Amino acid sequence: MHVLLVVGTLAALVAAVPSKNPYASALAPPYLNLLAKAKGKLWFGTATDIPGVEQQDQEYMSILNDSKIFGQLTPANAMKFQFTEPEQNNFTYAGGQEVIDLAKQHGNRYVRCHNLVWVTEVSEWVLDRNWTAEALTEVMKNHIYNVVTHFGDSCYSWDVVNEALNDNGTWAPSVWFDTIGPEYFYKAYQFAEEAVKLTGKDIKLYYNDYNIEYPGPKATGVVGLVKELKRRKLKIDGVGLETHYEVGTAPSYEQQIEASKMYTALGVDIARTELDVRFTQLPYNSSGLALQAKEYYDAVKSCVDIRQCIGMTVWDFVDKYSWVPGTFPGKGGADIYGLGNSNYTRKPAYYAVGDALAGHPCSVCGHN
Ligand code: G3I
Repeated sequence: MHVLLVVGTLAALVAAVPSKNPYASALAPPYLNLLAKAKGKLWFGTATDIPGVEQQDQEYMSILNDSKIFGQLTPANAMKFQFTEPEQNNFTYAGGQEVIDLAKQHGNRYVRCHNLVWVTEVSEWVLDRNWTAEALTEVMKNHIYNVVTHFGDSCYSWDVVNEALNDNGTWAPSVWFDTIGPEYFYKAYQFAEEAVKLTGKDIKLYYNDYNIEYPGPKATGVVGLVKELKRRKLKIDGVGLETHYEVGTAPSYEQQIEASKMYTALGVDIARTELDVRFTQLPYNSSGLALQAKEYYDAVKSCVDIRQCIGMTVWDFVDKYSWVPGTFPGKGGADIYGLGNSNYTRKPAYYAVGDALAGHPCSVCGHN
């Protein structure tokens, strides 16, 4: 046979064999978003700290962009005050838009927009000045109007006020509370509702907090906030239960169902918005992984079993980019990918989430 013909035939054969996806094991079933949708939920999603170094990490991006696994994105930082209004009345939307683009380009996915008013990640120009209550209320109004009308219904929802309460249910300090008093909270929802009306679109407004996934003074405090918003006839569509837990101390399934019903009884939706379960001591062992899996399982099942729980979001999916070690040195291992030294090996927790979404008993929770 002519040598060129042989080479040509070989080249054609190589081209015909599909190249193996190097990330196949990180992208294999179970498909968490497809399972969530099959249970009537809007999504299983993840937070992502884009724009950032993650964008150079091809394996991260191929998982993030797989709409079978993640049907919703939350920008972990890009839409917060300091990034969207770094100088007064000078708005920067590019970072948030990158997350929206990724969501839309890979399966027309949902975006939970996060957040408008919070104690943290407020621009220096806000913190550095002595404001009157009236002047700071105007700052808040201008921020909310601009950001909400800019992104429009690219946002499924906005976390309007984030983490307004202490664990005992009292108001938490912030530049907003300290300057304006409790009225800042209700004003924020009033401005957000007005901004939504300006868009003419359906954009949901949420309150988002942690340590409210179980009954207690903080959960009772949130019930009071929602009731007062409703009494004032202000728009409140849902409560975001962040669901940041520590291995070994997560609330039980029953506690989570009880707290969920405290909110849904008020006629609002709920969502699991920032799910992760961190180890307080590292390295973890196999019994720790099984307990972590059980705690993921219970959190997800308690959303699956409540009709008004619209979806679940992990606060990023791989330990490599988790917020936990930066905030709690020595703690970590909180995410569903990142077993041992392998960044993208799934932990038992991943399969536990899949089991809960499928309505199966947990196959990886050991005796927990
Ligand atoms: O932007 C600066 C950058 O200029 C600087 O070079 C770099 C050096 O550390 O820091 C960058 O800011 C960091 C920011 O994330 C953006 O990446 C801050 O240091 C860091 O503290 C900040 O952490 C974020 C944290 O909120 C702030 O409290 C986390 O990434 C984010 O995951 C976390 O998310 C919160 C939710 O919004 C609300 N619920 C709790 C959750 C976890 O804390």
